[in-house]
Amino acid sequence: MDLRNRTLGEFIIENQSSFKYSTGELSKLINAIRLAAKVVNHEVNKAGLVDILGASGDINVQGEGQQKLDVLANEKFIQTLKNREIVCGIASEEEEGFITINSNDKNHQNKYVVLIDPLDGSSNIDVNVSVGTIFSIYRRITPVGTPVTMEDFLQPGINQVAAGYIIYGTSTMLVYTTGDGVNGFTLNPAIGTFYLSHPDMKFPETGRIYSINEGNYVHFPQGVKNYIKYCQKEEDDRPYTSRYIGSLVSDFHRNMIKGGIYMYPKSSIASNGKLRLLYECNPVAFLAEQANGKATDGHGRILEIKPSELHQRVPFFCGSKKMVDKVMEFIAEQ
Ligand code: AHG
Ligand code: MN
Ligand code: MN
Ligand code: MN
Repeated sequence: MDLRNRTLGEFIIENQSSFKYSTGELSKLINAIRLAAKVVNHEVNKAGLVDILGASGDINVQGEGQQKLDVLANEKFIQTLKNREIVCGIASEEEEGFITINSNDKNHQNKYVVLIDPLDGSSNIDVNVSVGTIFSIYRRITPVGTPVTMEDFLQPGINQVAAGYIIYGTSTMLVYTTGDGVNGFTLNPAIGTFYLSHPDMKFPETGRIYSINEGNYVHFPQGVKNYIKYCQKEEDDRPYTSRYIGSLVSDFHRNMIKGGIYMYPKSSIASNGKLRLLYECNPVAFLAEQANGKATDGHGRILEIKPSELHQRVPFFCGSKKMVDKVMEFIAEQ
């Protein structure tokens, strides 16, 4: 069959045996995420028509004003995963603590925990710009049959068995990896089916796009300031192009296709930057490495950081290998 005619459902079945642990449980879990993605996609698409734009009035554990769609996406993902009785625990950017799934004893047999950023790029919601969802999946560390503990969630990114994102853009895509490359699926909204549209996605080795919130320039470390100046210098294939959507998923997705680097450094006003290690950096770093890209906190590999808390933040530099290596050189010089 032509690769591109494949639906996500068919792809999951065909690739089940290549999963590291092929009991079928991970396939079911990815199917549940596929379903939740369609539900959230439906909500995002009709956001302007019904009263689900704007702030919810609450502040989340990150200290951010929650948008109504943050809350809705969080509920839909958690509910879909709970209903399918497919995970033993969930952690979310929007929830203070992790959720133990223990409605009955059978659920304790499940092996996987899921960590989600239900809606990434909240600030774009009201202005009809792309947003996303990021997910990260681990096998639990504690014994099956017992309630999950914090240990199950605070695993280094290297332990991820799958990770991916959904981008609610001009078209809706689900992009994921189970550690065997990255594949992208585009939703045909007329029939509600994801088709394999971007098989084996790879970052170009280098690129000409840099993505950073330059409004914070004055607060950046000197190494990052120097790298930005390097990007802007007229020399060789530079100056580079600056593109920053303000939604990690969208910025990453574009850079993976076109070649580029995304940066959210530490600064004099945020000592660890802004991005969350467990819900944003680890899943995106796993995808990046699977697509021949690279992800670092400026000094070392993101995936090797041992997390110390659920909502931990880390500086993040991610994208085409040569560009990430270059910014690391600038940081090391300081
Ligand atoms: P979220 O909407 O899930 O809280 O994440 C927003 C993140 C990330 O997606 C984006 O790249 C970054 O915050 C933008 O931050 P600034 O507005 O500080 O640039
Ligand atoms: Mn947020
Ligand atoms: Mn986010
Ligand atoms: Mn979010």
